[in-house]
Amino acid sequence: MNDLAPLAELVDSARAEFAAADTPAALENAKARYLGKAGRITELLKALGALPIEEKKSRGAQINVAKQQIETLLNARREALAQAELQAQLRAEALDVTLPGRQRGTGGLHPVSRTIERIEAIFGSMGFDVADGPEIETDWFNFTALNSPENHPARSMQDTFYVDLKDAEGRWLNLRTHTSPMQVRYARAHAKKHAGAATMPEIRVIAPGRTYRVDSDATHSPMFHQCEGLWIGEDVSFKDLKVVFTDFCRAFFETDELELRFRPSFFPFTEPSAEIDIAFASGPLKGKWLEVAGSGQVHPNVVRNFGLDPERHIGFAFGMGPDRLTMLRYGVNDLRLFFEGDLRFLSQFK
Ligand code: PHE
Repeated sequence: MNDLAPLAELVDSARAEFAAADTPAALENAKARYLGKAGRITELLKALGALPIEEKKSRGAQINVAKQQIETLLNARREALAQAELQAQLRAEALDVTLPGRQRGTGGLHPVSRTIERIEAIFGSMGFDVADGPEIETDWFNFTALNSPENHPARSMQDTFYVDLKDAEGRWLNLRTHTSPMQVRYARAHAKKHAGAATMPEIRVIAPGRTYRVDSDATHSPMFHQCEGLWIGEDVSFKDLKVVFTDFCRAFFETDELELRFRPSFFPFTEPSAEIDIAFASGPLKGKWLEVAGSGQVHPNVVRNFGLDPERHIGFAFGMGPDRLTMLRYGVNDLRLFFEGDLRFLSQFK
């Protein structure tokens, strides 16, 4: 019996079934149909037992050849499927290294923050402490303690933002209209700390921060910054104010070619009072007087509210505008640009 033709067909059909199997599981099922316990090759081998010895040998050899061919086909297909799977996985996990990276923006300090840091550094070098206080303030600290009369215009609703909350005295809280309440807060804490001592160290402090007024145009914003300054000792005069403020301006603008003018003015909490104007000797603003601060010798009533004796403790205070200083330093002409959060503007200061 020579069944070579059917064996070749068997190999062909195995080839076709293996090729049709498109997953490893389907391939193993197809394999079982040929090489499994009840597979067609296995059946053929089992049937050999019934043949006479000579025929058994030649037939057995033929079947083994077919079996090897099928195993070769099987292994080739296994390999092909494994490769296909690997390729699919690589494709799925592909990383397109040609994509431009996502940039993480590098932030920068806000120009007004830069100015405030500069102010702190310069006054720090002159021995001034830096203090911080509440933006929601009581009527007493914002006005009364600063010698502002009940009928002072700053107290009116047109200038001041009031908060819908009252303090212990039944007065509306407000968004501080200036940093001057920090004079009182800091000096009172200082006086309390040194109460009873024979001598009290001088008070030398600046207090930068946000302030609020009902006001909005190119040079006024409802939220703006101020930096308070206070120096109280036993012999601190208007002359010292001039020296300190002149030194500050020269350091801040990095030039000695700068003139200062102390223009008589009025504040309830200083006497005498002066507006401080500066003028540059060169540059686009050459010769123009620019107001940068209010100042004066602290009023005796205010010193009393510090908890100190005005016969013994005297000194000066000033309040300057960091926003204005920033505009002058960088040549910005509209204050609102600082508070609109437009990165095209802000990133220029990085
Ligand atoms: N607080 C004043 C203002 O806001 C400025 C000032 C501070 C004046 C300290 C004198 C002394 O205009």
